[in-house]
Amino acid sequence: MEWTKWLREIPDFPQPGILFRDVLPIMAHNDAWQEVLDGLEQRIKPLAPDAIMAPEARGFLIAAPLADRLKIGLVPVRKPGKLPAPILSETYSLEYGENQLEVERDSNLAGKRVVIVDDVLATGGTVAATSRLASRLSATVVGFAFLIELASLGGRSRLDANALVTSLLTL
Ligand code: PRP
Repeated sequence: MEWTKWLREIPDFPQPGILFRDVLPIMAHNDAWQEVLDGLEQRIKPLAPDAIMAPEARGFLIAAPLADRLKIGLVPVRKPGKLPAPILSETYSLEYGENQLEVERDSNLAGKRVVIVDDVLATGGTVAATSRLASRLSATVVGFAFLIELASLGGRSRLDANALVTSLLTL
């Protein structure tokens, strides 16, 4: 896996004691980025999703090219106060704090098979909240896909046991 050499680790960001895994250098290197997208596409495609959901902000960068490759829709899940239309909101805990995620009520997800993608699975709070939003929109979450899973933080255990949880790299 050549792409892993471009994973940048930044100590004490965004606060002391947190080792931040920065995936942006991977995206900046053509071969590495295509390798990542190829890997995620291969894992997601068998789930036959109708749509991808992704949390702001790095999740968007991964979800958009994958949705294009799979020729399916994309529903962005945003930090508070960004969406102009009526929303649903879920509160979640991060490794470093608490926040809310919002999605537009009119997201065309009812009855659809959804895969949730993000760069990093840490505590799982972000994608668990995204999954709750999907359920409230009457979608079925069939999978979660990540570049990186931080196994020691146990995020996987917070996700729907009926869905596939897949990560290209487990640390
Ligand atoms: C980071 C990362 C994941 C989330 C993982 O996002 O991109 O979305 O944290 O953490 P969790 O599994 O403990 O919830 P962040 O909230 O920093 O947002 P950003 O992508 O907008 O910087």
